[in-house]
Amino acid sequence: MILEDQGYQTDSRSTGKSGLQAIRQGSFDILLLDLKLPDFDGMEILRAVMSEKPSICVIIMTGYSTVRNAVEAMKIGAFDYLPKPFDDDELVLVVERALKLKRLTEENLALREQLIDQFGFDNIVGEHPRMLETFEQVVRVAPTDTTVLIYGESGTGKELFARAIHTHSNRAARQFVAIDGSTLASNLLESELFGHVKGAFTGAVAAKKGVFEVAENGTLFLDDVANLSLEIQAKLLRVLEAREYKPVGASHTRKANVRLIAATNQDLQQMVDGGDFREDLFYRLNVIPIYLPPLRERSEDIAILVYHFLRHFCRKAGKRIEGFSDEALEALVDYRWPGNVRQLRNVVERLVIMSDGQLLDPGFVLNHMQGRYFMGGDSIPDTVDELNAVKKQVMDETFGRIHRAFLEKALKACHGNISQASATVGMKRSNFSALMKRHHLSADSFKD
Ligand SMILES: Nc1ncnc2c1ncn2[C@@H]1O[C@H](COP(=O)(O)OP(=O)(O)OP(=O)(O)O)[C@@H](O)[C@H]1O
Ligand SMILES: [Mg+2]
Repeated sequence: MILEDQGYQTDSRSTGKSGLQAIRQGSFDILLLDLKLPDFDGMEILRAVMSEKPSICVIIMTGYSTVRNAVEAMKIGAFDYLPKPFDDDELVLVVERALKLKRLTEENLALREQLIDQFGFDNIVGEHPRMLETFEQVVRVAPTDTTVLIYGESGTGKELFARAIHTHSNRAARQFVAIDGSTLASNLLESELFGHVKGAFTGAVAAKKGVFEVAENGTLFLDDVANLSLEIQAKLLRVLEAREYKPVGASHTRKANVRLIAATNQDLQQMVDGGDFREDLFYRLNVIPIYLPPLRERSEDIAILVYHFLRHFCRKAGKRIEGFSDEALEALVDYRWPGNVRQLRNVVERLVIMSDGQLLDPGFVLNHMQGRYFMGGDSIPDTVDELNAVKKQVMDETFGRIHRAFLEKALKACHGNISQASATVGMKRSNFSALMKRHHLSADSFKD
């Protein structure tokens, strides 16, 4: 009843025999199994399910006195156990967690088997509905000469998409020229944008082409437009309106035949409202806005991207790595990725370089993600949310390391005997093994 209230479809049986029958005939995602059944030992049912229908996620419900059996059940392959009595929320929570892991496991398997077929766009990966919408938008807008403004946090793929638009346009055979709004120095700007003739000013010993000329008949990518000074904004606006420009020192104007794609990680409308960006230029640029969502808002794409880069870097390094363990992948999917796809790419590259193993496990992955918040220059949190995320991460990492070392020390001293180890450190056995589970430690590796 609790689960049906949440919208789940359920079926319940009160004997092992009819339960097994239902499982064999039906298709279930999750089995909530009591260990004490009138006709069977729940453990036998568990074994049968693990061998016949291993895709079913089994959650053991058990009374206090049988917690030991529950641990045994988890060794056989149960997903988790619910000690009785439990309340509605606990039940719903464990079921949600099981479903999430199940979905991820299936996806992980599929990805491992047939490494991802790339999207129609050569090297752009994404299946989230918002990304699919973006792909459609790009397909529609690419062949036109319309100005496109790409919004997105750092590392979300703005330049990648700008290049894709260029490649899918009829300007593809001509140049794609990228200039960065924040590095355009005002005094140099004019000759940089429009070029100059020989002798136009002191030091102009030869004529120089400006970006508008280099990009002629091609695409000009204006990165970081929010950082253009107001002076440069004015000059740019003039070219966009007149569709022509004059090289410094030249006597004639030249036609400006470029397709413009601009990108920013700022809210330009807000900058317009605050007087930091010209409204007229904003409207010239914001003809077709494209929004690239941050990675944390499309976490369904993380697994695909992770495997995409894994394949890429394995090929590059000539290594064979089978993939990620489910838990390792889960850790990557749960992470917030403040640096978005670029950060994820860097992490995977590092993992490939550092790894000797076949299947990457969570310990390895987490170790190599450490310090991830403090890697870049723009890692100082901008919002309270981010600040709290950093705090949590620092706590998790610091205490995580200590916990892990603590467990390992005790387990090593007791040769992997959990009862002994927990008694030595003065911890309840159940808490000790729960902590082990959280840190993905197995007693086996400490037995000699
Ligand atoms: N959907 C994607 N599929 C595959 N690779 C991606 C995707 N999005 C981004 N990347 C890769 O991530 C890295 C960062 O992308 P890009 O340079 O385009 O980001 P950006 O938005 O321009 O970042 P910044 O604002 O910091 O300049 C690049 O290596 C790019 O190839
Ligand atoms: Mg960029």
